Amino acid sequence: MIAIGCDHAGVEMKKAIMETLIEKGYKIEDLGTDGAPCDYPVIAEAVCERVISGSCEKGILICGTGIGMSMAANKINGIRAALCSDSFSARFTRLHNDANVMCLGARVLGTGLACELAEIFLSTGFEGGRHQRRIDLIAGLEEKN
Ligand code: RB5
Repeated sequence: MIAIGCDHAGVEMKKAIMETLIEKGYKIEDLGTDGAPCDYPVIAEAVCERVISGSCEKGILICGTGIGMSMAANKINGIRAALCSDSFSARFTRLHNDANVMCLGARVLGTGLACELAEIFLSTGFEGGRHQRRIDLIAGLEEKN
């Protein structure tokens, strides 16, 4: 299951991504907004809670720039949220950072690119090895701070 959420800036992009992912066979849990103006940290928290609890394996968050969503998501222990605008980053944040949430900017990216980035993000695995040590160090930062 994939958790997805957006603020009012990302509604159309979220719909397009959901259609693409459903067509590819993914199951999606939509945490809003349906279009009503809302505060992006509230949506970020709802999506990230699904990822942390394990009820969803990954999350996708969309706001105007993707920046607010990524700032909010990365405040939550255990979340590694990556703001992506290109395919290299979408692939390597999975391979090297084991990112569990991807953030997208609806006012930055075209819808076609956003759908492609979502597919890359969800279909790429973590490489592990030396990268696991660095993920553990990130977790250590959460504990220290
Ligand atoms: C909403 O207008 C906008 O501020 C929000 O979508 C996002 O871009 C914040 O980072």
